[in-house]
Amino acid sequence: MSSAETPREWDAATYQRVSTPHQGWGAEILDRVPLHGYETVLDLGCGSGRVTEQLLERLPRGHVIGIDGSAAMVAEAERRLGSDRTTFLQADLLAFTVAVPADAAVSSATFHWIADHDTLFARVRAALKPGAPFVAQCGGRGNIASVVAAVEAVSAREPFAPSFAGWPGPWNYAGPEETAERLERAGFAVERCWLQESPQRPAPLRDFLETVSLGAHLERLPPELRDPFLDAVVDELGPDPMHDYVRLNIVATAR
Ligand SMILES: C[S@@+](CC[C@H](N)C(=O)[O-])C[C@H]1O[C@@H](n2cnc3c(N)ncnc32)[C@H](O)[C@@H]1O
Repeated sequence: MSSAETPREWDAATYQRVSTPHQGWGAEILDRVPLHGYETVLDLGCGSGRVTEQLLERLPRGHVIGIDGSAAMVAEAERRLGSDRTTFLQADLLAFTVAVPADAAVSSATFHWIADHDTLFARVRAALKPGAPFVAQCGGRGNIASVVAAVEAVSAREPFAPSFAGWPGPWNYAGPEETAERLERAGFAVERCWLQESPQRPAPLRDFLETVSLGAHLERLPPELRDPFLDAVVDELGPDPMHDYVRLNIVATAR
């Protein structure tokens, strides 16, 4: 996604049903955030609220501001978790602002959908108090290489190829070195930034691909080619494929 594009819509109900790997990643990330329980914390790319829900358990007297670009995701999060301890906002993370700087920010499985990490980190920094922890995880360098190879092979074939001609693809799988530099430039002190392998077998596979991994690809295709494209990718991946996830982790503090 370039900064000129608006975030796309997601099928929030299916996402909530199939995003089991995201539940585990969320728990892992939240273990790294120092919280007393009364803070106001941003959940950047909150989706249907999988991580927000876990965050609320850590904040019995606090507040979560969940921000997401998809209206359907925000509505699902509000429906599941709306209360006087939550605020959900539909906004592009490349352009969002908050009324009062927050005490901390977390984000899971979101930043690799955003091409411009310099602008993203500048926005996040502007939304935090000095000293605020910023703990995040997203797809990193080498993420789901076997899935990417299958998708590229199918995308290059007729009748799908014209829909993808000249498109760089939706994913920005950054490495830890350039990410740490970007964070420092944006005004963060980086404690740790690293890659971590996290192989998964998402199920049901076709629903997971349709809703999570390939949503941006399917949107580019005419409706009559979407099912054939999905079928071709499932076929290319072979039976019971392992998704070779590589997560990019960020533990930083706003200076
Ligand atoms: C895979 S979901 C992760 C949701 C949640 N954090 C979780 O772990 O379950 C990715 C989310 O990022 C959001 N997203 C992607 N690009 C965005 C952008 N530029 N601004 C706001 N949200 C964005 C999508 O709408 C989607 O809800």
